[in-house]
Amino acid sequence: MKWLYQKLLRPLLFLMNPEFVHDVFVSVGSFFGKTSLGRSVIASFYKYNGGKATKTVDGITYQSPVVLAAGFDYNGHLASILDCMSFGGVEIGSVTARETKGNPRPRLKRMIRSQALVVYKGLKNDGVEVIINRLKKMKKPEGFVWGISIAKTNDAQTVSREAGIEDYTLSFKRLNEENIGDFYTINISCPNVHGGESFTTPDMLSPLMQSLDKVDCEKPIYIKMPINLPWEEFNDLLAILDRHRVSGVIIGNLNKEYDDADFPDEAPPKYRGGLSGKVCQTRSTELIKQTKSQWGNRFTIIGCGGVMSPEDAIEKLEAGADLLQLISGMIFNGPHLMKKIAEAVANRQKESSEVLQ
Ligand SMILES: Cc1cc2nc3c(=O)[nH]c(=O)nc-3n(C[C@H](O)[C@H](O)[C@H](O)COP(=O)(O)O)c2cc1C
Repeated sequence: MKWLYQKLLRPLLFLMNPEFVHDVFVSVGSFFGKTSLGRSVIASFYKYNGGKATKTVDGITYQSPVVLAAGFDYNGHLASILDCMSFGGVEIGSVTARETKGNPRPRLKRMIRSQALVVYKGLKNDGVEVIINRLKKMKKPEGFVWGISIAKTNDAQTVSREAGIEDYTLSFKRLNEENIGDFYTINISCPNVHGGESFTTPDMLSPLMQSLDKVDCEKPIYIKMPINLPWEEFNDLLAILDRHRVSGVIIGNLNKEYDDADFPDEAPPKYRGGLSGKVCQTRSTELIKQTKSQWGNRFTIIGCGGVMSPEDAIEKLEAGADLLQLISGMIFNGPHLMKKIAEAVANRQKESSEVLQ
């Protein structure tokens, strides 16, 4: 499968517009997810059925510690097929209170040699009510985890602090009222929205968290962190989160530093969107290590950014991550990657239990 993807399918797909390829993938995936025959076909190629790769985190058991990161399945169309591709869960969204059309095109570009994507999507999604209704009608695969990422609607109406907080809180409240989703993520760090990354400063984050605290929620809440802040500022945000009902952090979002790319000449000449993939790897792993060392087990850590291979996955887990999220690794290296990671995690868990015996 690896050979087939990397030598035949990828060169073909990479000739086409990335957003078009993504839309086709979502339509095909959604079609296969609708029937048990379709699910079996995908599972026969991509589902991990070997030794134990399960992990229980904040009371939720994942069949594999790899979760599809927010930004691939914005609208929840793939929520009944991804378990067949060895994902333990999906983070749907980011969803916003109102429908968001996204930024003007082009808003997605590949940097092939750097194994990165330039992302300027701007939170294109159907809006929280439509997504709630879609998920309510869908059959949830047994043992598969649905997380929902919440961001603020990307338009001029939510630029003020109060309007932004109201927008986040509305989506959070509605999802809880409808009991949709096993965990929630608050995306405070999307770089591609009106007003910029506005909730990544203490004076913005604090009132947002106070507002979210007032909503009844029994489920784990994670915060999607930026990766371009210096450690002191990042740690100031963690200190705020420590005072609120937060189970953990996802480290982290897209990289705004184009010079971190292996081949920066592939990047657009001026900033227009964050970078995913290999360009995020070092920064996210370093922040995971620092968070673990400073805060021990206070925060669940979900490692995200540049997991391109099973070795990268193990590196993030060894740095202190409890779970992993990815998108770019699947795009650059193929849909068999999650099965390979599950295999590597199962072997690692087996080895460490043998050492303990
Ligand atoms: C096309 C695309 C869209 C994204 N949109 C979102 C989003 O809506 N919300 C979010 O929290 N992160 C979003 N991200 C960031 C990813 O969730 C992830 O943090 C980042 O891509 C790094 O992981 P990766 O290197 O495995 O791709 C997006 C990433 C990509 C590639």
